[in-house]
Amino acid sequence: MSADPSASAPYEPVAWTAAGGGGVRLLDQTLLPAEERYIDLHSVEAVAEAISTMRVRGAPAIGITAAYGLALAARLTPDLDAVRAAAATLGATRPTAVNLRWALDRVLRRLAAVQGGPGALGDAALDEARDIHEQQRAADAAMARHGAALVAPGATALTHCNTGPLATGGGGTALGVLIEAHRAGTLAGVLVDETRPRLQGMRLTSWELGRHGVPYEVIADGAAASLMAAGEVQAAFTGADRIAANGDTANKLGTFPLAIAARHHEIPFYVVAPLSTIDPATPDGASIPIEERSADEVLLIGGSRLAPRGAEARNPAFDVTPAELITAIVTERGVLRPPFADVIIEALREPATP
Ligand code: MRU
Repeated sequence: MSADPSASAPYEPVAWTAAGGGGVRLLDQTLLPAEERYIDLHSVEAVAEAISTMRVRGAPAIGITAAYGLALAARLTPDLDAVRAAAATLGATRPTAVNLRWALDRVLRRLAAVQGGPGALGDAALDEARDIHEQQRAADAAMARHGAALVAPGATALTHCNTGPLATGGGGTALGVLIEAHRAGTLAGVLVDETRPRLQGMRLTSWELGRHGVPYEVIADGAAASLMAAGEVQAAFTGADRIAANGDTANKLGTFPLAIAARHHEIPFYVVAPLSTIDPATPDGASIPIEERSADEVLLIGGSRLAPRGAEARNPAFDVTPAELITAIVTERGVLRPPFADVIIEALREPATP
C-alpha cells in the first residue's frame, strides 16, 4: 500500500466568502483529482446547480452548502416567502440525503423568529448556516474519536464512496474515523471501493487519503467480497445519507452488497453518521426516497460512451442496508448498538451537540 506524503496542503470544500458581496465558495469536486479549482457562487440557482451536478456532494456537505445558499437568498431579499421559495429550490436538488432538508428547515425556523430592520434576515440566516457548519466540524471530531476506538491494531479497513472532509465540510464521517485511526497508529491501511458510476472512491477518497498520508489501495467494487474471503479486510466503515427510525440506512449504491458480504464473512460493518442524518420521520428503509440519476452516468466513462448505441441503463444513486446487517452506528454521541429503534430515539432526545 502506498501513501503520497508530498500532498498535504489543506483544502476547504465549502465556505462562505465575503468576496463579491457575499457568496458560497466550493472546491469543485467534479474536477478532482486532476484540478483543484474553487468556484464562487452568488445566486441560489448557481448553488442549486452545484448540488445537483455534484460539484459538492456528501450528505452533510450538501446540507451546509444549502444553508449558505439560503443565507445568500435571505441577504438578497427581505421577503420571507421568497426565502421559502429559495429553500424549496435548494431542497429539490437531491432527495435522499436528509441533511439537506434538515439544514434548510433549521435556517427557516431561525428566520421565522427574526424581527428587525433591513438585513436582519440575511444576518440571522448566515449566522445559522455558520452554526450548522461549526456543529458538523465538532460532530466529525467526536465521531472520529468514538469510531477510531473500534479499529483493531493492524487492521485493514474497507470503505465505500467518499465520506471524508470533502463530504462533510469538517473532518469526515467514516473516512474521518480511518484518518484518526491512522494517526493513532492502529490502522494498517484502507481498501477503497472505486464506487461506480461516479467513482467517488477512486477520485475523491484516494485523493483525501493521500492528503492525510494514509496508505490505501483502490479496488474494483466487485473485488470486496473475495478480498474479505481472503482475510484481507478486518472491518468495513461507510457513511450514510439517511438513517430511518429503525436503523435501516441509505448510502451510496453498493453499500448494501458490501454489508451482505461483511455479514457472510463475520466482519464488522460500521456506519458512521451525525445525528442530523437520522430521520425519525422515516420509519424504515422502504420509505426512503432513492435518487435516480441520469443513465449517462452509467453508460459513459470519462466522457466516452462505451455502451452500444441504443443501450439503456438504470442509475439508482443509493441503496438501503437493512438494520440487521449493521454492527453499530457511530454518532457524535457515541456508538449505537442494535436493536437500533430505542437507542436512536434516546440519542435524538439529547441536544444534537457532541
Ligand atoms: O452521491 P454522493 O457522492 O453525494 O453520495 C455520498 C455518500 O453516499 C456518502 O457516503 C454519504 O453522503 C455520507 S458522507 C459523510
